[in-house]
Amino acid sequence: MSTSSKKAYFTKKLLEWFETNHRPMPWKGVKNPYFVWLSEIILQQTRVEQGLPYYEHFVEKYPTVFDLANAEEDVVMKSWEGLGYYSRARNLHAAAKQIAFEMGGNFPNTYEEIKKLKGVGPYTAAAISSFAFDLPHAVVDGNVYRVLSRIFGISTPIDSTAGKKEFATLAEDLLAKKSPATYNQALMDFGATLCVPRNPRCGDCPFQKKCTAFIDDRIGELPFKSKKLVKRDRFFNYIILKSENGLLLHKRTAKDIWTNLYEFPMLETTQLLELDGLRKEAIDAGLLTTQAKMIKTSKPFQQMLTHQKIKARFWEFELDSIDFYEKSPFIFVHKDKLGNFAFPKIIDRYLNDNSLYLELF
Ligand code: ADE
Repeated sequence: MSTSSKKAYFTKKLLEWFETNHRPMPWKGVKNPYFVWLSEIILQQTRVEQGLPYYEHFVEKYPTVFDLANAEEDVVMKSWEGLGYYSRARNLHAAAKQIAFEMGGNFPNTYEEIKKLKGVGPYTAAAISSFAFDLPHAVVDGNVYRVLSRIFGISTPIDSTAGKKEFATLAEDLLAKKSPATYNQALMDFGATLCVPRNPRCGDCPFQKKCTAFIDDRIGELPFKSKKLVKRDRFFNYIILKSENGLLLHKRTAKDIWTNLYEFPMLETTQLLELDGLRKEAIDAGLLTTQAKMIKTSKPFQQMLTHQKIKARFWEFELDSIDFYEKSPFIFVHKDKLGNFAFPKIIDRYLNDNSLYLELF
């Protein structure tokens, strides 16, 4: 089969496959660009099953772009809590303000203008322009690299400039120009349900006989990446200073993954600390008085992020004197109000693990 007829075959077969393999999702067929945009930001780096309740929450709580733009940042972060990659929520809020206050509430309607919104890259811009405006732009992401590299047998590294170009050109060639929304949704669903990274369902695949990777037994090798991602280890020692009524929290301001989320006072070290080391470092850092009484410690908790592996342990101490912390960047939060604050997932997991204990105080 020539390359050009294989391309035409791919597009036709994919659309046929989609006709009988619809996954029902609340944003499918939606044309309101604001809702399409919400769903696409939520689904960046998130599985459909995980994103679904968040989409429903956002649509109900912020039914228009003005509702989102006018919401307090802490409230938006709380809505996002648990979904991870919090820069998405900060960008979502910033872009809502752009649309509401600089564009009179009119969602941009060209690929280039959509791509200028904060947090919108080429993939999301292609998704929104095709779903909301039927514009002919093909989505290209990790799922698409995987599907195309396997079916067309492309071993150019996907993390190279040449690879990115080659896949982008092929993706545009394959796009069904008359039905870009259906085509993009079909490709996303195909990559998410059938041509998955490990143990793809080749037995059910309409391309099995034409898939180069399947024929050559190279499914496990493709897509090919030249560099292996090395994760950075980080160690967080959280100090929970609590009294009968509440505890101290701190809003993270550092420009990192968790900007504007709340946490307990924390010491980052090169290994998790044991009690003696923790006491000493915390006293040196002005977080503990020399007579501070420890209540209990936790097991180590772990959270994997794309580029980092976080290990954390939590140490609870009696908050003996509020005066000591008066000049600190911490705020005293009543125990009944803890639920209003958005925390990183690792802290949420700790709080849930200890919910009974925290309630008893
Ligand atoms: N991933 C990103 N956008 C998606 C969509 N519209 N449907 C399913 N998965 C997606």
